Amino acid sequence: MQKRLTLLGSTGSIGESTLDVVARHPDRFKVYALTAHRNGGKLVDQCVRFQPEVAVVGDADTAAQVTAALRAEGCKTEVSYGPQALVDAASNASCDTVVAAIVGAAGLAPTLAAARAGKRILLANKEALVMSGKIFIDAVHDNNAVLLPVDSEHNAVFQCLPREVALHGGVSKIILTASGGPFRTREPSTLRRVTPDEACKHPNWAMGRKISVDSATMMNKGLEIIEAHFLFEVPYSSIRVVIHPRSIVHSFVDFVDGALMAQLGPDCVFMMGDNPVLPTMPEKPQLLDFFNLRFTAFTRDHLLQSARLALKSGMEEKIVVACLLHDIANGALIRTDHGYWGAQLIEPYVSEEISWAVRYHQALRFFPDESVGYGYPEAYREFFGPEYQPSAYVRQAYEEARNHRWYMSARLITLNDAYAFDPNVAIDPEEFTDVIGRHFKQPAAGLGFDNSPVAHMWRTMIWPNNLL
Ligand SMILES: [Fe+2]
Ligand SMILES: [Fe+2]
Repeated sequence: MQKRLTLLGSTGSIGESTLDVVARHPDRFKVYALTAHRNGGKLVDQCVRFQPEVAVVGDADTAAQVTAALRAEGCKTEVSYGPQALVDAASNASCDTVVAAIVGAAGLAPTLAAARAGKRILLANKEALVMSGKIFIDAVHDNNAVLLPVDSEHNAVFQCLPREVALHGGVSKIILTASGGPFRTREPSTLRRVTPDEACKHPNWAMGRKISVDSATMMNKGLEIIEAHFLFEVPYSSIRVVIHPRSIVHSFVDFVDGALMAQLGPDCVFMMGDNPVLPTMPEKPQLLDFFNLRFTAFTRDHLLQSARLALKSGMEEKIVVACLLHDIANGALIRTDHGYWGAQLIEPYVSEEISWAVRYHQALRFFPDESVGYGYPEAYREFFGPEYQPSAYVRQAYEEARNHRWYMSARLITLNDAYAFDPNVAIDPEEFTDVIGRHFKQPAAGLGFDNSPVAHMWRTMIWPNNLL
């Protein structure tokens, strides 16, 4: 469903990034309201381009200028001004998602109003949590609002940390990173003479002046500690900061079992579904686009080599296709029960037998069948240890499959499941274009957009981080 956005602070850097994403996905986002403090000129341009219903500015003079400019452009956006107008824009029933990117205390009232109105809030404003953490979080919980941190550090923690784990004491420490700002290497005695302009020359990011100064003084990190405390419900004693000048890692989560998760990568645009690290998919993605643009190199090579092995051994085309698709869910989706997920992913597009075979290959891998020359994989003894026993449900699936009429189709997948595959063999996925054409019904609208019962799973592979 199309999201209707109120963008609090549309002329700042977060606001501009957000509009960049909106412009690329007009089918997924519609702008309801844009707000800016004083930068009326930029706001006018944005209104002309995105045609919001409402625009809010700081004072009456700016409102009059913006209105005149918009009417001259034939733009019907309603312009209002002042704190109450911001609150109205953030809580209006016509919007469902609020991007809170107003810097400073002015952002508090409208962001709180959005929480009370049960909106989905993408929070880039620190003050809402710093000034009124408990009130704000309570408003989110009491009104079923959804809070997603956009800030790179907190978004990183959010991605590493399942809420259930946090609530059940699974976190040992949250470690935020700090670049150290422009004065990290300055001789302390010279700090009393620094100028605001020097403070704003951040080594890694181009940001607004307030946040740049907060970053130079490290005050920003102090605010982020307070934010992390409320967002993730961990005590202050469990939050640490490390100086990391290159800003590659955004944050770490240290778990009680000794695991350490880190999130590295691009900025807030990532949060809105567009991960610039991933190549762009075509509008109507076909099966091979997932092979070429989404699957990990490991899965892709493994699938192609298994399929080629089946082909070379002269197996039927349906087996070749089953081999080509058998670990498809590992490529970009999930790990647990990959056979079940994979079978479901392909079910609308292949024969019942192929999907069945993909489902059951997962269990059959663990059980030898001398009659076809399939032994327990040596690799499994190494991975899982000599004592490893598959779970009861896996054993049960094996029992079911063994007496099934399609047993051999699933069994042949395991036979072509090349565990020690050759890393030096490059296979062009196009080699399988014809066989895919005969056995995989590509939907005309593209995988993910054909409204099939599994379209959402393909979309998850296209946009792995779209939390909106
Ligand atoms: Fe598999
Ligand atoms: Fe496999």
